Amino acid sequence: MAEDILRITGGVPLHGEVTVQGAKNSVLPIMAAGILCGGETVLHRVPQLSDVYAASRILNRLGCSCRISGNTVVLNASGLHSFEIPDADMRKMRSSIVFLGPLLGRCGECVLTMPGGCELGPRPIDMHLDALRQMGVTVTEQDGKIRCKANRLHGAKITLSYPSVGVTENVLMAAAAAEGETVLRNAAREPEITDLAGFLNACGTEIRGAGESTVTVSGKCMLHGAEYRIMPDRIAAVTWLCAGAAAGGTVVLRETQPADMESCLEVLTAAGCRLGVCGDRIFLESSGRLRRVRQIRTMPYPGFPTDAQPLFCAVLCRANGTSVIEETVFESRYKYIGELLRMGADIRVSGRTAVITGREMLHGADVTAPDLRGGAALAVAAVSAEGETVLRALPHIDRGYEHFAEIFHSLGGNVNRGSFTRNDTKNSV
Ligand code: EPZ
Repeated sequence: MAEDILRITGGVPLHGEVTVQGAKNSVLPIMAAGILCGGETVLHRVPQLSDVYAASRILNRLGCSCRISGNTVVLNASGLHSFEIPDADMRKMRSSIVFLGPLLGRCGECVLTMPGGCELGPRPIDMHLDALRQMGVTVTEQDGKIRCKANRLHGAKITLSYPSVGVTENVLMAAAAAEGETVLRNAAREPEITDLAGFLNACGTEIRGAGESTVTVSGKCMLHGAEYRIMPDRIAAVTWLCAGAAAGGTVVLRETQPADMESCLEVLTAAGCRLGVCGDRIFLESSGRLRRVRQIRTMPYPGFPTDAQPLFCAVLCRANGTSVIEETVFESRYKYIGELLRMGADIRVSGRTAVITGREMLHGADVTAPDLRGGAALAVAAVSAEGETVLRALPHIDRGYEHFAEIFHSLGGNVNRGSFTRNDTKNSV
């Protein structure tokens, strides 16, 4: 059976410049927030990703018009006629859960099922439902369908037990249309939250403190549309820096927000990369063998981001010495390590801890992406390995990276995407 795969031949230092894509984890909640707006909304720097197309399909199914043209999305929610999200659409990605808040804000009702997304361990939605109940939402479950209904959606004082990104997003969007004021404590502080609040404020909401632990929202009955530019994708940016760190060479990133990535830039420097920042540009130079990093512990922002954990593991596989990673956010985010072992990596996993003993060299292998960032990590390892790697299950990567193979190619990497049958006769696409 033919499938799209990447053929990656490593051992070549990378040199070049990359303009970083718009942020997947910002554009998805912002597209959902468009449901709250009367009139037209225009979004710029929207990455061309399968998750963006999935979000557009949900909006169109709900009766909104959503048109994607290059990196611009034009949406208008005036035709909204449904508040039920089909199960097939819910299963496509985790982000389908952030349609809940805006549908409650707009319609007072939403029917959905459990969201899909990368398999990183159990990803319940209990905190989403608990927070929304405090705003007057009743939740009933029947035949796998979750029906949320609010006769009167009202503001509340809510303290999260964990600074969940998705829960913070749902509460901000519901609160934007709720009666009265909402104070959210222990809110997630990720830059994507600040970007969502920026969009909602551009639509007429009054949100104060986004990016801090306490956020206050004054609800408005109806928001107007807005024209808005999505923030740059900090994890995509870190991906290209890690590729340069692992393969060696010089990588320049354009259109970034370096302040969003400080924890990652610090670790790259500790590993021996030379980094420079100037405005929205980041310069990385890496040569020779990198140093081990004593410990990386993933935390909610501004701590080290869990999404960068697989990428740094791939970099440290060839570092000089032993590095330790603690994954504190998700229960099972090491599925990609089995594939790194096929490339000769020396990694031992025990629970949430991975101990990486750096090797002089990795070798190419036939590997399969288990999820979005795990797949990207395998490509980072492959460009720094000897020989050829075949990377399969590219739909995982297409969910979050725009022009993935082309960017590696533009950096001088020997990375080719093609449709290959199992017997490897090349039918290039
Ligand atoms: C967002 O997921 C991101 N996804 C993830 O990026 C990112 O890893 C994560 O935030 C943490 O930064 C999107 O924005 C689409 P959480 P989200 O709610 O909102 C538990 C990527 O690769 N939890 O902050 O799902 C949950 O299981 C993806 O781009 C509950 O227990 O993350 C997890 O252990 C992967 N109950 C922890 O909280 C709930 O109701 C953090 O999850 C909600 C969450």
